Amino acid sequence: MNRAGALRRAARAAAAARPRHAEFATEGAAAGGQIVQQPPSGAPPVEGNGQDQGGPNQLHRRFSTLPWTNPVTLQSINPKILKTEYAVRGEIVTRAQNLQQELIVKPGSLPFEEIVYCNIGNPQALSQPPITFFREVVALCDHPNLLDKSETHALFSSDAILRAFRIIDNIPGRTTGAYSHSQGIKVCRDDIAAGIAARDGYPANPEDIFITDGASPGVHMMMQLLISSEKDGILCPIPQYPLYSASIALHGGTLVPYYLNESSGWGLELNELKQQLQAARSGGTNVRALVVINPGNPTGQVLSEENQREIVQFCKEEGLVLLADEVYQENIYAEGKKFNSFKKVARSMGLEDKDVNIVSFQSVSKGYYGECGRRGGYMEVTGLPKDVKDQLYKVASVNLCSNVSGQILMSLVMNPPKPGDESYEQFAEERDSILSSLARRAKVLTEAMNKLEGVSCNAAEGAMYVFPRLDLPERALKAAGAVGMLADVFYARRLLDATGIVMVPGSGFGQVWHTILGSSYLKANVAIFLLRSHRRSLIFVVALASLLHSCRVRLTYA
Ligand SMILES: Cc1ncc(COP(=O)(O)O)c(C=O)c1O
Repeated sequence: MNRAGALRRAARAAAAARPRHAEFATEGAAAGGQIVQQPPSGAPPVEGNGQDQGGPNQLHRRFSTLPWTNPVTLQSINPKILKTEYAVRGEIVTRAQNLQQELIVKPGSLPFEEIVYCNIGNPQALSQPPITFFREVVALCDHPNLLDKSETHALFSSDAILRAFRIIDNIPGRTTGAYSHSQGIKVCRDDIAAGIAARDGYPANPEDIFITDGASPGVHMMMQLLISSEKDGILCPIPQYPLYSASIALHGGTLVPYYLNESSGWGLELNELKQQLQAARSGGTNVRALVVINPGNPTGQVLSEENQREIVQFCKEEGLVLLADEVYQENIYAEGKKFNSFKKVARSMGLEDKDVNIVSFQSVSKGYYGECGRRGGYMEVTGLPKDVKDQLYKVASVNLCSNVSGQILMSLVMNPPKPGDESYEQFAEERDSILSSLARRAKVLTEAMNKLEGVSCNAAEGAMYVFPRLDLPERALKAAGAVGMLADVFYARRLLDATGIVMVPGSGFGQVWHTILGSSYLKANVAIFLLRSHRRSLIFVVALASLLHSCRVRLTYA
């Protein structure tokens, strides 16, 4: 017998002895992810691609006629995913992307020439340039051979070269292409901790730093740590950045809302916090943490130090973890306002690790750097007991590590050039020009909004957005209802279709509508990212003004 025939016979014998497919079915999902099944004892090891079972034709006859319905359906996937919503990348944005395609395929077919994405703070997508020093260091670390070339000294600043040497020499293997420590490269954590200490005037410990792919994964990790079931609640501001509602929904917890007061400049009132906490607790919810976004997104408020002290005290007394979203710490525009980290405020009150749990989130995506696509961030975890932090480390290690270039960028953001360094002047110029431009735009947009009939807008003290309130006639509600939409979604959709401007309906941030008693106006908010150029901002405002009027007319007669 030839070798091929022998192999075929052996394969047939193995196929006959092979248990049926169903007997092998794993039940991983049903068992919470654990593998509960083993092949029956005595069964031979099974290999091959199935074609051994009588040849390709027979296989075709045996299997192709079996009806097959896809076992993965909306009904069978994790219901928590179905519950999750993320408005800044929601339906309006999907429509905008489709319109963008339409503009490519059929130029001139729409009443505008480009889509202007104001739905999310993505500054470089709207032509904000990156900071030269940051990019130089990252480029040199990514391609360290450049460090040995003489031309490099003509092309890169000397402090960028030195910094790249310092970082790359402290990465095992001298490469950005290797996995790092799960909390992040030690030298990057050292620089981040040094930056925090310089910012706050209180020490920071590199062991408390978890470098992440942007702030978002840090938030998810904390939710994973704190939420076991829907009985666990997280106090969240409304309006809120939808990362929080989405993450709580994904992890199966309960969002306990507290409402920011628009009429007091989106103030965070302690009484409101207390009432909501009480109500949640009496309903049986175990409230674990309080989220504070400072400066606020989408509301732009910057908390006073006094207010922050009250919040820290409240968390201490009520045993809540303070989840402090501080990603807009460099974006403060209002005179007399200043960013204070919650950790600094706690330390200034004499509170240490043993007194209160504070987790601070920071990111390379915002500030003057706007490096959203680089995915760099960190969380500074203070107060949690060592054994709990070990568990958090375990969660981080399941992802192995965050991307190394993002880690380097995060360390540069927290430890930028200093006066006297070769690149300092250029760095300071680039930084100040971006920040002053953002401040100018915040002012221009807010003023323009407030000049529009039926629109009022609190000053954007910080962050990157304005969150105007629109008076929509009751008929707008009816017109929206007739097509099965919320009025603010309807408005944002009409704005997009008429101007190509993408903004986020306030309801996406959980914002409630206010129907003024005795009047027929509906108050809805929309969030708008501060556009890059002045020219564009003005075009945008004019477009908004004219749209508002035409929209009203159309809504009135709809
Ligand atoms: C308040 C707030 N937190 C977190 C994030 C997420 O940022 P990252 O890109 O670092 O994940 C954003 C993004 O816009 C934000 O506005």
